[in-house]
Amino acid sequence: MKYFTSVILLLITAFIAANVNAIVTGTYFDRIVLIIFENTTFSQAEQQSFLKNLTSRANGLLLSNHFAVAYPSQPNHIAIIYGSTAGITDDNSHNITGNNLIDLLEAKGVSWKAYMEDFPGNCFTGTFAPSGTDLYARNHNPFISMNNIRQNSARCANIVPGTQLDTDINNNQVPQFVYFVPNQKNAGHDTGVAFAMNWFQNWFESKLKKPAFTTNTLFIITFDKDDGSQSNHIFSALLGTPVHPPSDHNDTTAYNHYSHLATVELNWNLGNLSRQDATATPFTKFLQHP
Ligand SMILES: *[C@@H]1O[C@H](CO)[C@@H](O)[C@H](O)[C@H]1NC(C)=O
Ligand SMILES: *[C@@H]1O[C@H](CO)[C@@H](O)[C@H](O)[C@H]1NC(C)=O
Ligand SMILES: *[C@@H]1O[C@H](CO)[C@@H](O)[C@H](O)[C@H]1NC(C)=O
Ligand SMILES: *[C@@H]1O[C@H](CO)[C@@H](O)[C@H](O)[C@H]1NC(C)=O
Ligand SMILES: *[C@@H]1O[C@H](CO)[C@@H](O)[C@H](O)[C@H]1NC(C)=O
Repeated sequence: MKYFTSVILLLITAFIAANVNAIVTGTYFDRIVLIIFENTTFSQAEQQSFLKNLTSRANGLLLSNHFAVAYPSQPNHIAIIYGSTAGITDDNSHNITGNNLIDLLEAKGVSWKAYMEDFPGNCFTGTFAPSGTDLYARNHNPFISMNNIRQNSARCANIVPGTQLDTDINNNQVPQFVYFVPNQKNAGHDTGVAFAMNWFQNWFESKLKKPAFTTNTLFIITFDKDDGSQSNHIFSALLGTPVHPPSDHNDTTAYNHYSHLATVELNWNLGNLSRQDATATPFTKFLQHP
């Protein structure tokens, strides 16, 4: 009897362990990694050699007709996970009610984390950190503004500092939905796009060699908005083994920041938030599951 009980316990433990790491297979990809830069027009970004290099790769694709949805930064980040700007037109702190992408992901068991460079952790709700440097800015972290994330300690613990990504890659624990925001310098906000792309190349190339990061992963490299001087035309690129680009590596389909939600929802059959995500065009034209 004692032996029988231990075997059952062992089986239950093994079942739980297997399901913690369970991958929910997607239609086009099994992981999506969004990396979001700052304050750069399409034409400025297009001239960056590293970005040209990425879109020219065998699994690289330029989205040449992608527009941000608002000024300043914050409403664009909100749009990406909420399906509307929630009426926000500034970079101040806001608390937002209602469902968001995380509700849809968790309902289907798709793991997620928001990696924010220089985020202090512990569900920090302040505007800037660390004090005196302001490398982390809340207006680029839409997750903390969602009431049902900020007020839920398990969810809030999924907002982590950028360095956690290296740990997660080394432990083969990278979640299936990754939202990565470089700090105010590395995203180009305080420094410009050339500085940002130099940082990005160093940061990204080594990670692209890690299967724990790249296997069946769709990478989206994008900018939250242009620099305010033009029509909000931004540079975006898709990369990874799910991407099968046409010979010119140029997808001219009209997209906006609601397309991110539409892509994730379609991939995992998540339904929608009944906001602008429901009618947005997903980035799936040249995607195929590896
Ligand atoms: C991109 O850069 C890498 C290394 O810097 C190089 O090996 C590769 O050939 C380049 N790819 C393209 C398509 O230019
Ligand atoms: C948001 O809610 C927090 C408590 O979770 C509160 O301290 C803060 O004042 C609220 N902010 C706004 C802008 O309403
Ligand atoms: C955005 O970039 C422009 C130049 O491209 C610069 O003048 C402006 O100060 C930047 N905005 C912020 C908030 O850094
Ligand atoms: C992509 O296609 C658009 C529309 O045809 C064109 O204006 C643009 O020059 C192309 N860009 C590249 C890099 O091929
Ligand atoms: C969006 O979700 C609503 C509510 O679940 C559903 O009625 C509607 O058909 C969905 N729209 C699309 C385009 O899938």
